[in-house]
Amino acid sequence: MLRLFLLISFFYFTGIETSAQQDSFYILTPPPPVQPRLNNPLVYGCRSGNDFLYRIPCQGERPIVFTVKGLPKSLRLDKNSGVISGKSPAKGTYQLNVIAKNKHGVNTKSFKIISGEKIALTPIMGWNHWYAYFDKPTDALIRQAADVMLSNGLADAGYNYVCIDDCWTNAYEKNRMPIQDSLRLKRRRDSSGSILPNDYFPDMKAMTDYLHQKGFKAGIYSSPSKRTCAGFEGSFGYEEKDAKQWAQWAFDLIKYDRCSYPDDAPYNTLEQAKYPYEKLGQALKKINRDIYYSLCQYYGSEKDGDVWKWGGSIGGNSWRTGTDINAFLPDVFKVALRNIQFAAYQKPGEWNDPDFLMLGWLGNRRTGGIYRTTMHPNTQYAYVSLWSLMASPLFFSSRIDKIDAFTLNLLTNHEIIAINQDPLGLCGRLVTLNEKQFLLVKELHDGATVVGIFNRNSTDMEIKINLKDIGLKETYDVRDCWRQVLIGHDLSSFQTTVPAIGCAVIKFSKTN
Ligand code: GAL
Repeated sequence: MLRLFLLISFFYFTGIETSAQQDSFYILTPPPPVQPRLNNPLVYGCRSGNDFLYRIPCQGERPIVFTVKGLPKSLRLDKNSGVISGKSPAKGTYQLNVIAKNKHGVNTKSFKIISGEKIALTPIMGWNHWYAYFDKPTDALIRQAADVMLSNGLADAGYNYVCIDDCWTNAYEKNRMPIQDSLRLKRRRDSSGSILPNDYFPDMKAMTDYLHQKGFKAGIYSSPSKRTCAGFEGSFGYEEKDAKQWAQWAFDLIKYDRCSYPDDAPYNTLEQAKYPYEKLGQALKKINRDIYYSLCQYYGSEKDGDVWKWGGSIGGNSWRTGTDINAFLPDVFKVALRNIQFAAYQKPGEWNDPDFLMLGWLGNRRTGGIYRTTMHPNTQYAYVSLWSLMASPLFFSSRIDKIDAFTLNLLTNHEIIAINQDPLGLCGRLVTLNEKQFLLVKELHDGATVVGIFNRNSTDMEIKINLKDIGLKETYDVRDCWRQVLIGHDLSSFQTTVPAIGCAVIKFSKTN
């Protein structure tokens, strides 16, 4: 018995798998073509006069040469990398046309820049260190993440934020989970009150420069309390100063995590729940930089004042709709069904955030080892499908350096990503079929409708949909988005086998 236990622990913590386990990681999506395939969203928001940085995501064999028609004068394009940089143009809408060419072919796609008040007009996509390295992030690991995303195709699929989570500052000595590493226990602020990164981040600006040069945006983290959730320095009482510092370091995103707030302050009313987030929101408004404001109150309990109702009004670009995802896995259906309740509150620039895509190889905070998610592959398909259909931020938080072919395939299906990035920004509408099966029906900007068919039963199920029952009154061409194949013409009903605790994602476009 002990031997068996030791053997299982060995596989679990070293990450060595049996071939039977590996076989079950079935890949549905064909690999990207050698010809260029542009994956930019159709619409992109920025604020006039601020720094602009966008790397055009494009799959296909490199070298690829990019051309952009209609580029405003304040912007320039690096034709080899596809990075657009410069200053955001005067307020207005700019209709661009992107062309990507390699020795195998050409692809073109439109790209509308709206220079106005809003950023993140489609859900943002990226990587966050938390479930990979927990309290041990370093400058080198952040840079490595960007390098890996460029080399393994994640960046070409659209993932362009690289984010540090908690633990880049110095920790309090007395801590709920004491930090043993003396290099993370130094001075938390200097004599003028400026926040100090710990020794693993020797030069924040050099690090963000590195990310920016490669076309990535950089994310940082803090808390409105004295301590962050892991017991590191937070921003309580230093909100304006810290916001300026993050901007000077050229960060593009701040995740603001409630943690021990309110410390000693009262916390009973809606005003008190809003207060710390409003405070940083005001500080960020004074800064001439497009900084995505990610609200994280995690519980979203009644006491927290229903953040989805006011997060947008105080400048938030997204807000967590529930507690940490690791507490809920593997039941991602539960997380999604909670998030969907708040569908009406999200719109382009203001998103519900059901937390990370915690897939692939994960860090183990206690042992420092790694393990592969134990979630069934069917459910992993459902996980990504739900986040796509809900228009949730797509943030992969796992060991990016260890990403396997299955997980990469899950994250880079351009048809699934396009559903997430649709400019209407709708969260799929819930149609309950019965206790254990439901549909998410999402209308796209081009008149097509995508239906996610979800099966929470532990056996595969045959599911039939009469299209008129979900408001589709004509006949349709039917496409399987995971497999990227056309599966029917001229249909008014549809039937398929949906795997146990899994899904099918089907797109219906009007038959011409
Ligand atoms: C939690 C938060 C996680 C992670 C962690 C860091 O409150 O929900 O996403 O940021 O804190 O300590």
